[in-house]
Amino acid sequence: MTFSIIKTKAQLDSWLKKQKNPIYFVPTMGGLHLGHAELIKAAKKHGSKNSCILVSIFVNPLQFGANEDFEQYPRNLNLDSEIAKGAGANAIWAPSEKDIFQGDKNSLFQINVPPKLQKHLCGSKRKGHFDGVCTIMVKLLSLVKPKVLILGEKDWQQFIILRQLVNALGLQIEVKGIATVRDSNNLALSSRNQYLNSDEYNQALALPRSLQEARKSFKRKGSINIQKLRSDFEKNNLKVDYIQIVDRTTLTPLDQPKSPCLLAAAIYCGRTRLIDHTFLMTRSPIIAIDGPAGAGKSTIAQLFAKKMGLIYLDTGAMYRALTWHIIENQINPNDEKNLLKVLEDFKVDFKSSESSGPQVFVNQKNVTHFIRSPQVTEFVSKISAKFPVREKLTNQQKEFGQQGGIVAEGRDIGTAVFPDAELKIFLTASTSERAKRRALDLKQKGFEVPSLMVLEQQIKERDQADMERDISPLVKAADAKELITDGMKIEVVLDELTKLFREEVPEEMWKV
Ligand code: PAF
Repeated sequence: MTFSIIKTKAQLDSWLKKQKNPIYFVPTMGGLHLGHAELIKAAKKHGSKNSCILVSIFVNPLQFGANEDFEQYPRNLNLDSEIAKGAGANAIWAPSEKDIFQGDKNSLFQINVPPKLQKHLCGSKRKGHFDGVCTIMVKLLSLVKPKVLILGEKDWQQFIILRQLVNALGLQIEVKGIATVRDSNNLALSSRNQYLNSDEYNQALALPRSLQEARKSFKRKGSINIQKLRSDFEKNNLKVDYIQIVDRTTLTPLDQPKSPCLLAAAIYCGRTRLIDHTFLMTRSPIIAIDGPAGAGKSTIAQLFAKKMGLIYLDTGAMYRALTWHIIENQINPNDEKNLLKVLEDFKVDFKSSESSGPQVFVNQKNVTHFIRSPQVTEFVSKISAKFPVREKLTNQQKEFGQQGGIVAEGRDIGTAVFPDAELKIFLTASTSERAKRRALDLKQKGFEVPSLMVLEQQIKERDQADMERDISPLVKAADAKELITDGMKIEVVLDELTKLFREEVPEEMWKV
């Protein structure tokens, strides 16, 4: 692989013209370390073979305050090139101030970041910093026109602001955040770590250590003690610049931490300013996928759970299992007394094995195949609409979800079961598309296949019944994101879901 070192704008233009693959752009200020290498590696992984990775190095004067470390900031193009090349970048671009500012710094059009995004955290301490970051980023992005912009999540406020900037300007660029990389002592990697002498380095370790303790204590108790955090820092000679708890996407300060939220801190260790953060959560994240019958919810939820290493909670299968149980025991579901008795004895379990995939058990009998029969399909909606059924299974689902870390799908997951899910998706498709999928599914499972017209009619009736029932009707949660999957291949739906998921649940939130 050839590796290019680009300096002038003309060289950049000519290099860009030659590239056949989409550009993955990793902007940096140099002083590259293993954290940057991870960004480059993540770009490579994300784009597989079809990506071209460009790393920029520009120590942006606009983002440094008068008494900050602009002069001292590490500048070593040879070392940076080595690291970028080693991690798999295709080129490094180190523009001159002249190329970026085209003459006079004062004639540059500037970006003003909305006050609500920079009023807190670093923005309140480093006046004009984020205006400077955004001004330069717009310039870099307009010159490179990348497909994907790769940013470290370590500077969480910068990440959120840049993501919103790209959205607000309608740039067709995917913004991908990469989790903070830490050294073996858990200190977040930063170009500024090289300013620390060995005593200072040891003191600085209190920053991640105390944040992690606060995270653990929040998970246990649902609250944290900021005073304790402050005194932990001070005991280690760290001067607190700020400690703040904010909403993780709007960056608005929270009086009471509400799971999940961001706990961020900046401290001075000697003369070096370091930042770090953690996410406060009482449980791991939950992804709720709702939508009408036949939208592909169970296929997608299952594959997505596998891809993300989450537990798949198939609530639809729970209702199907109960319906099967009622049919099997010849219970009249309108006979309340008998229904309650059946519910008392009913226990559904999920087991998963590499060879057979997820299996559903009712009172220890494997019913995975039976619950997909047309007879169950016919009755499941009516049975699910019964109040005691709903109550029993919703409670079981909530229990399954107590620790989080699950993908659950159904019709009322985002509204009734997990109203506080971190990501809510409403997965849907047109009736004709769903009828086609249903026909294929029945055929594959060896059941008789009715005509598409009949299937469409059944689907419409089922939608109607699901939407009109009194208890937990099928409804899109106000904060759900709609995904219409007509004509989309499964892999495309999964990619789309992954993108939406990452916007709400950064990698770091995962590691509770
Ligand atoms: O995070 C950085 O290195 C810089 O703030 C960035 C994004 C390259 C803009 O100068």
